[in-house]
Amino acid sequence: MYDQGRDNPLEILRELQLTYGDVVGYTLSAGQVVLINSAAHVDRVLSSDLYKRTDTLKFVAGNGLISADDEQWKVTRRGVARWFGAESMMRFESVIQRAVERVVQSWSRAADSGDEVDIYSDMTGLAFEVITEAMFGHAMTDERQRFSDAVYVAMRYLGRASTMLLGQPMVFDPHAFADMQKAVGFIDQVVGELVDGVDENDADAYLSLVARSLKGYGTPAEIRKRMRDEVVTLLIAGHETTSTALSWTWHLLATHESAATRLRDELHDVLDGRPPCFADRARLTYTRQVLNESMRLYPPVWFIARRATAEDEIGGYAIPEGGTVVVCPYTIHRHPNAWRDADRFDPDRFAEGSDATRPRYSFIPFGAGPHLCLGATFAVNEAILALAGLGQHFCPTPVDGYQPGADPQVTFRPLRLRMTMSYVKRA
Ligand code: HEM
Repeated sequence: MYDQGRDNPLEILRELQLTYGDVVGYTLSAGQVVLINSAAHVDRVLSSDLYKRTDTLKFVAGNGLISADDEQWKVTRRGVARWFGAESMMRFESVIQRAVERVVQSWSRAADSGDEVDIYSDMTGLAFEVITEAMFGHAMTDERQRFSDAVYVAMRYLGRASTMLLGQPMVFDPHAFADMQKAVGFIDQVVGELVDGVDENDADAYLSLVARSLKGYGTPAEIRKRMRDEVVTLLIAGHETTSTALSWTWHLLATHESAATRLRDELHDVLDGRPPCFADRARLTYTRQVLNESMRLYPPVWFIARRATAEDEIGGYAIPEGGTVVVCPYTIHRHPNAWRDADRFDPDRFAEGSDATRPRYSFIPFGAGPHLCLGATFAVNEAILALAGLGQHFCPTPVDGYQPGADPQVTFRPLRLRMTMSYVKRA
């Protein structure tokens, strides 16, 4: 595996974990940070009222579900829950299948021509298509690429907060700031049009659910702003995370032949060449194990930051009021007490019944507590259909001189996942 050593900036955090233990405090230019590396303290930070969200994501997502924890967050979370429920999921099945089919076509062209594929770019395109189609149908088709680029630029700016956690000094870059503002301006313009066009009587549309749950919570202008925030939130929360999970999974499969063979055998047995559907999930058990093991090693959300609203103490560390506490899935997912030979890729760790032997919260790709990811089922459904739909036809192979890397931003973005495609051969 490539990620031992300096190639992966998160190895700094792992070194801190292995040297100093479950709770590590350090001081950065922006103040004191306490890093939580163990499942034992997750509940205390993510489920207690003592800790609130930080402001970092608010630059882009305003007070959307991903960054707020006020009364409106509560009513909106309740109000949109049905959009994430089983009935809606069935509507999204064909959306995901269409997006996967588009990648099947493009990977077929690559397999025929021998051209290289940029895995992360393809998975980002897939996930962005899925979330925009699920939210707005075809309304955004024309602007999708430009919009996706704008989200990328905005998120890159916010990613500076993450590199700061790794000890990089906060340097104000006026060009990056101007680019971020321009990107957010474009996002606002597109989203503003979608918000204005909302039909509150459409019981299935995400925005009308948001609009209905916020009725009575502020002036029309405030509610409109909040609706904008919810759209941006879902676009951010709902695509870079899933594309990151999928991309690392292809990396792991391309570098672990026996797991790739076992996955292909399962896909052959269950699908026999037809496109996968949600009903197949129950039988795609190894596919699910591979996805989980990938999110263990490379959790798309590698840190979850909170601010203490009062003094506290965790694992012997005094946390001052206003102090930043960072729950770190990356180190928790590699904790030696929960995971033997933790850096090794082994999907059998997630074989049925295996979680009974691990401490609670030792696997938290979707967070924990009241802010637990609303889109977890959506993401897993999407990822399994994509892995199965593509994995049954293609063997991605790293290019000569393959040098993958990690670029941890708000999500754990991969770098340089360049591969060629060949078709799966069956006797
Ligand atoms: C593999 C993919 C994904 C991962 C790893 C992931 C991870 C997370 C995590 C760790 C949180 C908690 C953040 C916190 O505690 O502050 C979260 C929250 C959230 N996620 Fe996801 N997510 C994924 C996909 C999605 C998708 C596809 C959607 C939407 C379709 C989504 C929507 C949300 C929302 C709305 C929240 C905020 C929940 C709240 O605070 O009430 N996520 N996600």
